[in-house]
Amino acid sequence: MAEEKKLFKVTIDNITIDVDPGTTVLQAARKIGGEVTPPAMCYYTHLKGSGGKCRTCLVEVAAGSAADPRPMPKLVASCRTNVMDGMVVKSITSERVLDARNGVVEFLLINHPLDCPICDQAGECHLQDLSYEHGKEATRYEFKRRTFEKEDIGPYIQLHMTRCILCYRCTYVADQLTDHRVHGVLDRGDHSEISTYISKAIDNDFSGNMIDVCPVGALTDRTFRFKNRVWFTKPMDAHRNCDKCCGKVTLWLRGDDVLRVTARKDQWGEVQTYDGKPGWICNDCRFHKKHKYDWEIEGLMNVSRHSVIGQGKYPGLQVPKETIAEVMGGKSPNLLMDIHDISGVNEPDVDLSKIEGPATSKTFNND
Ligand code: SF4
Ligand code: FES
Repeated sequence: MAEEKKLFKVTIDNITIDVDPGTTVLQAARKIGGEVTPPAMCYYTHLKGSGGKCRTCLVEVAAGSAADPRPMPKLVASCRTNVMDGMVVKSITSERVLDARNGVVEFLLINHPLDCPICDQAGECHLQDLSYEHGKEATRYEFKRRTFEKEDIGPYIQLHMTRCILCYRCTYVADQLTDHRVHGVLDRGDHSEISTYISKAIDNDFSGNMIDVCPVGALTDRTFRFKNRVWFTKPMDAHRNCDKCCGKVTLWLRGDDVLRVTARKDQWGEVQTYDGKPGWICNDCRFHKKHKYDWEIEGLMNVSRHSVIGQGKYPGLQVPKETIAEVMGGKSPNLLMDIHDISGVNEPDVDLSKIEGPATSKTFNND
């Protein structure tokens, strides 16, 4: 008889779930979903070696494991910390974590220009989202911001080095998806910058994926540059038979014009997977198939993340409805999370979809 697989129990913000050994705290939190999930600016599931650079995903480990329940003295990067059996983690329930996140955002914004009104990434920028949640209205930084010599990295990708947060994701795309890396992080510390070696243009077939992984507006699509704001466009899922990539994309339309083609993203902003493989797309699909007739259109994209794109303009867009605030008399649902089907909080004989109003301790009281 096959031995039963041992799972680890981890509790994040009072929600207990079972995960496979080797799962990171970030992945366990994503399994729970909702607000307990730490933000992640540099980690990217499909890029080996990513994570550990930006510190936005810090969490507090209140108990290391069932065997050794001592707390960890410092906050840890959840993308690089594996769960242990019996680990207790605090994300949004920890003042220290929230304070650290505020500090990290302030630090990331030291040099990042607040040029969202003219940035093509506005509306889908993870730093913009983070700034709304954790940013301060003023800066304490008194020095001159970093500036860089403008560099041309080819006809398809626009580099704005001042916006770069040095997350390294684009260099991993270059390393892992294209034949050879022609760009990387040069210099150290305050002088670090993304550059192509000897200003060589990035012209290999999968280089456009760097645009999709860049969490900010440092790498944007030159063919879409200043053409439109993303929230005025209509995202449609589409596919074509492509011999280089999966051919599954999102078309960003204005009327009948295809303004931009991107890979399809999941709720964490990462490329979706098909048959277990990440759905990276080739430059041909991204930059050269800009007509509706090039594509089989499937329908409107599902917007699963809170996004300015889902402002109710398109009836087919499936944006989750905020019902908790409604039943809580307008109170923010900060600590009421989606109770996961395998959560230890949930009782097997209580069907949460059938009870009236929010679940409380009385719901689980059998007396
Ligand atoms: S250019 Fe974008 S993806 Fe590359 S390191 Fe900078 S922020 Fe990250
Ligand atoms: S996402 Fe964990 S350190 Fe950047």
